[in-house]
Amino acid sequence: MLDPDQALSRRIILSREGSNAGTASLESGAILMPVATEYSVVEHLRDARPVEIRALRPDDKAEMLAAIGRTSTESLRRRFFAPKKGFSEPEMAFFLEIDFENHVALVAEIDEDGRPVIIGGGRYVVVQSSQAEVAFVVVDAYQSQGVGTILMRHLAALARDAGLKELIAEVLPENTAMLKLLRRFGFLSGSQRAHQVAHLTLKLV
Ligand SMILES: CC(C)(COP(=O)(O)OP(=O)(O)OC[C@H]1O[C@@H](n2cnc3c(N)ncnc32)[C@H](O)[C@@H]1OP(=O)(O)O)[C@@H](O)C(=O)NCCC(=O)NCCS
Repeated sequence: MLDPDQALSRRIILSREGSNAGTASLESGAILMPVATEYSVVEHLRDARPVEIRALRPDDKAEMLAAIGRTSTESLRRRFFAPKKGFSEPEMAFFLEIDFENHVALVAEIDEDGRPVIIGGGRYVVVQSSQAEVAFVVVDAYQSQGVGTILMRHLAALARDAGLKELIAEVLPENTAMLKLLRRFGFLSGSQRAHQVAHLTLKLV
């Protein structure tokens, strides 16, 4: 497990190694870097409890379902824009089969009574060349503890490292917590609102 500074230098090392590891060069000369699937950084909640921010693993299915089970109907509606009681097999496969290039997913994991427990997750999915959409959900009992902000910071850094130029987010207009979080990172609202959804954009370069 790495602290945030170590993680940054590790990304830089990976970036340098990337030029010899079959990675593609971008027109700007930047290196499209392989994101380590073992990404793991220790951060802290607002109450100082340590939280591990790590790459989602294929074997996280049970833990992920447990986290969803501890998330309120309203939070799930804000994440998926519709009442969500369960997930189909194809949906679960989409959420768990992460290639860490076009689809990057991080989870926040905390120690609860000596057991690691997932308390939130964030991901970006590349939707078109150089542009990816971000989305998050944090278990209600752990909201407003800084988890969403920490996940956003790591995803934005990974997206920048990967050479992406823009992050976008679709948010329900009443979702003040998410709007506040995104605006603090510099996301700007788009002019149009499609289907009552706010569209926000962050330029990474
Ligand atoms: C949006 C979400 C991911 C934010 O995660 P989080 O861990 O609670 O975020 P943070 O603690 O880093 O920051 C949230 C901020 O919103 C504020 N906030 C929380 N609820 C709020 C509300 N109802 N109105 C206004 N601000 C609110 C928090 O106080 C905090 O601001 P602060 O840093 O000034 O105290 C989380 O609330 C969540 O999972 N919501 C349900 C799913 C969702 O909406 N996903 C987004 C869809 S893309």
